[in-house]
Order: sequence, then C-alpha cells, then structure tokens
Amino acid sequence: MCGIVAAAAQRDVAPLLIVGLKALEYRGYDSAGLAVLEGGEVHRVRAKGKVREMEALYQANPFPGGTGIAHTRWATHGVPNEANAHPHVAGRVALVHNGIIENYAALRAQLQKNGHVFTSETDTEVIAALVDHHISKGMPLRDAVLATVRGLEGAYAIAVISRDEPGRVVGARRGAPLLVGVGIGENFLGSDAQALIQVTNKIIYLDEDDVVEITRDSLQIYTLDGKPAERTLHESELSADAVERGEYRHYMQKEIFEQPRAVADTLEARIGPNGILPNIFGAGGEELLAKVKGIHIIACGTSYHAGMVAKYWIEEYARLPVSVEVASEYRYREAVVPEGTLFTAISQSGETADTLAAMRESRRRGYIGTLAICNVPESSVVREADVKLMTRAGPEIGVASTKAFTTQLTALALLTLHLAKQQGLDSKRYNDLCSQLQHLPRAIEDALKFEPEIVELAGRFILRHHALFLGRGAHYPVALEGSLKLKEISYIHAEAYPAGELKHGPLALVDEDMPVVAVAPNGPLLDKLKSNLQEVRARGGELIVFADTAAHIDGNATRGSILRIDAGGEFIAPAVFTVPLQLLAYHVAVLRGTDVDQPRNLAKSVTVE
Ligand code: G6P
Repeated sequence: MCGIVAAAAQRDVAPLLIVGLKALEYRGYDSAGLAVLEGGEVHRVRAKGKVREMEALYQANPFPGGTGIAHTRWATHGVPNEANAHPHVAGRVALVHNGIIENYAALRAQLQKNGHVFTSETDTEVIAALVDHHISKGMPLRDAVLATVRGLEGAYAIAVISRDEPGRVVGARRGAPLLVGVGIGENFLGSDAQALIQVTNKIIYLDEDDVVEITRDSLQIYTLDGKPAERTLHESELSADAVERGEYRHYMQKEIFEQPRAVADTLEARIGPNGILPNIFGAGGEELLAKVKGIHIIACGTSYHAGMVAKYWIEEYARLPVSVEVASEYRYREAVVPEGTLFTAISQSGETADTLAAMRESRRRGYIGTLAICNVPESSVVREADVKLMTRAGPEIGVASTKAFTTQLTALALLTLHLAKQQGLDSKRYNDLCSQLQHLPRAIEDALKFEPEIVELAGRFILRHHALFLGRGAHYPVALEGSLKLKEISYIHAEAYPAGELKHGPLALVDEDMPVVAVAPNGPLLDKLKSNLQEVRARGGELIVFADTAAHIDGNATRGSILRIDAGGEFIAPAVFTVPLQLLAYHVAVLRGTDVDQPRNLAKSVTVE
C-alpha cells in the first residue's frame, strides 16, 4: 500500500527519502516518486515500477535540496504510470497522499469549472489543486492545508511542500497513519516508523485529524480547528537490523524461520508452570473478560484465518460461542450482538482500513468492549481498543504473512486458555493444553527441519495451474491459509475445502493434473479424513499429505507423498502444520521465479477500503 516519507533538513534529502522509500517497499506498490524544493523550484522525479527505477532516474539527473517529499503508490484511482505517480504538482505546491478521497469527483468538477487543468486521473491531484487555490487567496501553507482537509471526505495522510515556503513541510492525517520523526536539526514525516528508523528513533504518532508543520528546527502539531496540540514522543524499539534479510534469500524465508523465536516471545511472561499468568491483557483486561458470554472476531486475510482457528479452540475448550467474519462484510451489515459479546479485532499491522472501520462501527453495536490482537503497538487498532494482547512477531516485511499468523495463533491460544480456565475447564485438561502451548516454539523448530523434503515436493508444482487443500476441524482454516500462501506468491490457483465437502463439488476437479494437499493431524477426525483421501486417490489425484507422526496413515495407500511431522499435540497442531504449508508455498514460488516478497497486485498493509 502507499507509503510516505518527507524531510526538512540542512543536508540534501533526496538520498534519505530514497532510503526511506526502500524501507517501505515491503508494503507493496507499483510506482514511486519524490520532489525536492531548491532555489524556489520544485524538482521532481517519478517512475512506474520499483524504487530503484526511480532512483536510477534521479542518479542520472540528481538535484540538491533540504526539503522534500516522497511516495510509493499502490494504484487506486488510475493505472500505475508516471503521470499518476506522486508527488502531484499544482501551481506552487507538490503533494503526496495515502488513502482515498471519496468526494474527489465533485471537488474535481468544481476545480475544472474554475479553469484548473488536471494532468492525472488521481484523487490526489485534487488535494494539491485545492491547497494551491487557498495559497493563491493569500493563505500560508499551513492554513491552506487546514482549509483543504476540512473539505475532504474519506481517508488521507498527506505531506505537502510549497515553492513559496522553502524549508517547510506540512502533513495531515485522517483514517491513514502519519507520524513525525524527530531528528537533531532535522525533522521527518512518514507513514510508518520503518521509513524513519534509519534517521531517527524518536517518533510522534499523530492523532486523527491532526495537521503538522515541520521545518528542520521546529515542529508544531495542530488540531483540525487550527489550535496547537501536544502529542507524546516515543522512542521506537524498531531497529534497522530487524529489517535486514541476513543469510536468507527472501524476507519470507527469514520470517518463516523466525517463528520459533517469535512464538516464544509471544508466550514470554504470559504462561508459567501453573498456567496462564495474571494481567496478560493489561489494565482492565481480566475484568472485561470475566463478563464475556460470547465473542465476535473480525479480521481480514491471514488474520481472518487465525480467527477461524480460534473459533474451534474457544468453543471446544471454553464452551463460549464465537463467530468470525471478514471485516469488509461485517462493517456493512447489521450483525446481531447478543448480550455479553466481546468484539475482537485481529490485525498484524493494526492499520487495515476495513478492520479499523469495523472496530469503530462496533462501538455503536452494544458490545461489552473491544480486544485487539495486533503486532504493532502504536497502531490505530491498538490505540482504539479497550484491551490488547500484542503478538511479538517483530516487523514482518514479506507481503505474505507467516510469523504474524503463528504468533496470532499463539495469542489466541493464550486467550482460549484464559477463558477455558475462567469457564471451568477441568484442571487436568487445562494443564495438558498449557504444556502443549509451551512446547510450541520447539514443535515449530522441528517442523522447519523438513525444508529439504518440502523443496522436493515443491518441484511437483512448477507446471501446475491449480491445487486443492483439504483439512478438517481447526485444520480447515490451516488449509485455507496454506492455499492463500500458494496463490499469493506462486500465482497458482489454489482453493481449500473442509475435507468433508470434497464430494459436494470439488471432487469433480480432481484428476491427475490436480495436486491435493491434505493436513492430517491425529485425532477423532483422522479416519474420516482418510476416507476423503481415498476419494481423491480413486480419481487419480496426486496426494501430498502432511500427517502427524502419531496418525496411522498407510504411506502406500496414498498415490503421492506423505510427510510425517510431530504436531506436539492436538491443541497446537494447527500452528505446527501451518509451517510446512508456508514452506511449500515459498519453495514453489522460488522455483517459479516470482517476486516472493512483493507479489504482484498485493500490498502488505491495506489502508484503503
Ligand atoms: C493484506 C496482507 C495480508 C494480511 C491482510 C490483513 O491483504 O497482504 O497478508 O493478512 O492484509 O492485514 P492485517 O495487517 O490486518 O493483519
């Protein structure tokens, strides 16, 4: 999704802006650009494609200047090309924008009537034109931005410079993140702390509707009515190293292998020899959970799959009803909220537009409160939730989510056990589940050792166009997640079904060209799954089975391959079986030569609807 970096400094900022944009590449984008003020002129360079392509143009024709704005664009209004790339220039103003302006068509028509000629198809150019229009009426840049954003509907984070005010950048946000990086003798704006960490770790997160003005030695925040405002300065714990790829070929591979550590971090100081520790949900958490009679989980993408696993867990062990829904559906329908229901948002980034909007919508629907399960402490979802349980995955750069998913499962397992105890699960079972959860980092580490076997299996997918994934119970969402990973990064069409649904449709697709990947944990549903596998085998389908070492599956009974993995117990098995599916998708994508960390058309953080 779009990214913003801006700087006001004494030194030349274009190289800093390029470094910042590169740190944002993981978010997904399709064009990039930057503009710098120098000698009363705006110098601009933009290019379709990667930041390095824009950088090459800049290197061929570099320009100095200590004030600048830069952007990576993920196309919404208008195709990805140079004309639609940001910064957009109107008169004396250059501007970058994340988000979507909903009333842009009316604003654009009005500006055109007044004689403004647009050079792009974007909603962003309308904002630039409005700011320039207000300046032409005599307003300073800051007031022009305030006047402009008051008339905007939709979501925005913007950064603006004006030829008339060298040394100054004005930013504003509503519904899309923007933060200030405070340096020594220089200040910055960014859409994400990652963009600024190379230059400063002192970060101020702007509130909704804030407007900010920076120069190299001053910084002032205003509310929408133009009154000065104070916001807290944070020291970010992000390190530039955390986003280094190290010995790994791709971020995704690195992040898959970081999972034992990330899961252990998520468990740390939250579970002990006697079970779940007190106060893991922070202030007011236990009081809120004590009132819970049911849970609505809302999320998108991979986070939604984590929520689906939690439904199986919480209903089985805590005997509380759980519903799980994708945020884009939930926010626009009238969900029934029974008394005592807790709203739970799951989000890696904490900035996903639909999840955030659903959470805001939930406020008027009569929940007892909101819980956020999230990976980014200062994100909007976390800041707006009543209580939170942070995943501690560290920065996730690969667009295809991996360690965020298993740490979400870990946090949800902690929630399940807290509720199970509260609801009176018998202590023997409770203790067994707790010790399984403590074993999870180790079980994932063991599963990672199958990488060489999985590389072999991946070879069978190179020329395939389709794949089916099957699972039952809590492994149905694991199958969904496995198929999502494969389609996201290898572009193979993959679908997942609860194995029992096979004969109600997808079996018609099964022939020798259709690989069928099945997850076969040990448990009461194993025999049923075995019959489903026979159905595939009888149609000549090629089976790839990830089975628990404790599950009795005859290797000869499958036409294809069986990989036996120690799942470490029924409770944690969904998290463990996720790992070979991630590795499979990863190695298929590597063999097919796709852009693994930045798959086409996708974005890491979807901050528009
Ligand atoms: C995007 C990402 C997915 C992610 C989803 C939800 O689509 O590409 O990997 O699962 O957004 O993101 P969130 O940050 O809310 O978990």
